[in-house]
Amino acid sequence: MQKRLGILTSGGDCPGLNAVIRAVVSHATLTYNWQVVGIPYATRGLLERKAIPLSIHGLDLRGIDPLLNMGGTILGSINKGDTLAHVEEIVAGYHALELDALIGIGGDGSLAILNQLQKQGNWNFVAIPKTIDCDVSSTEKVIGFDTAVNTIVDALNRLTFTAASHDRVMIVEVMGRTAGHLALQSGIAGGADAILIPEISYTIQGVCEHLAELRDRWGRRFAIIVVAEGVQIAADSSQKPSSQKPSCGIGQYIADELCSCTNHQIDIRVSVLGHIQRGGIPSASDRLIATAFGKAAVDLLANGQSAQMVAWQNGQVIAVPLETVLASSPCLVNPNHFLVQTARALGIYVGEESILFG
Ligand code: F6P
Repeated sequence: MQKRLGILTSGGDCPGLNAVIRAVVSHATLTYNWQVVGIPYATRGLLERKAIPLSIHGLDLRGIDPLLNMGGTILGSINKGDTLAHVEEIVAGYHALELDALIGIGGDGSLAILNQLQKQGNWNFVAIPKTIDCDVSSTEKVIGFDTAVNTIVDALNRLTFTAASHDRVMIVEVMGRTAGHLALQSGIAGGADAILIPEISYTIQGVCEHLAELRDRWGRRFAIIVVAEGVQIAADSSQKPSSQKPSCGIGQYIADELCSCTNHQIDIRVSVLGHIQRGGIPSASDRLIATAFGKAAVDLLANGQSAQMVAWQNGQVIAVPLETVLASSPCLVNPNHFLVQTARALGIYVGEESILFG
């Protein structure tokens, strides 16, 4: 009998999700002759027992295949809710929809929930990692990160010209609630002068001294500072750390502190890139990762494997048990990572002390 494969996207969207859906539908249909159905809005679709038939011929527009380069997810997604309050109904939904297997695309939070569900429901389940935060462990690549880095780098390029024209300090707040991969990598690639990430503490004095050095030693009258949204208030802050997250947003907080520290001698502007980082056309790299992951996930299920996540390691796509992945996620920036050292070697201020390892 023809097998029925479900696919869902869970958590915050990112570029490349539709490219995975395309790869899964094509490979499952062409190679294994399976029927593929999309589950709308992640586990909510299972709860409501909704499934949308997906076929390779139904995904194109007059022969043009839009999914490879379309941002977002045609299946819709959710990143909040009380999923775990409905475990039994969701588990039952999988069986009521007569699914033989399910592919779930998500970040570490979604994968943890899906893992609980698949264990309880005894599902045939394979996970595909996606996240612009790049904090799912056990894999060197995830879907969405490369495009987000490119989007930030593009913004930094633009901001550099306007900053230089007005002798300004530009603070650019980027996503990354717990992990600083996005800030670190885009900051290096985009030519930032300072990069602040949640894993490494910093001081306002340290940033001020760095700005002064840029000006006095190198004649630089502008600067670009990249700040991850999850950065806490500075170690030497005048504000007492009753709350470690300022209500005005970390970018604005740093701007205000730098203004006070320099007696308002610098002209500062703050740009919060927000959800611009999650939108857009997936980069070639994200399309490639999505396609390779989609194909590999289908093959794993065809080979009778379950409770695995596809992962990119040493130039290959392999399977890692979901439990192993979740035990070490979220994966944070190691303050001794060669990219942190690379940034420092190039004179970029990346904070002073490791929060992670003391
Ligand atoms: O986890 C991915 C992420 O983009 C984070 O970087 C960000 O903090 C969060 O999602 C934003 O979520 P929401 O879409 O609910 O605002």
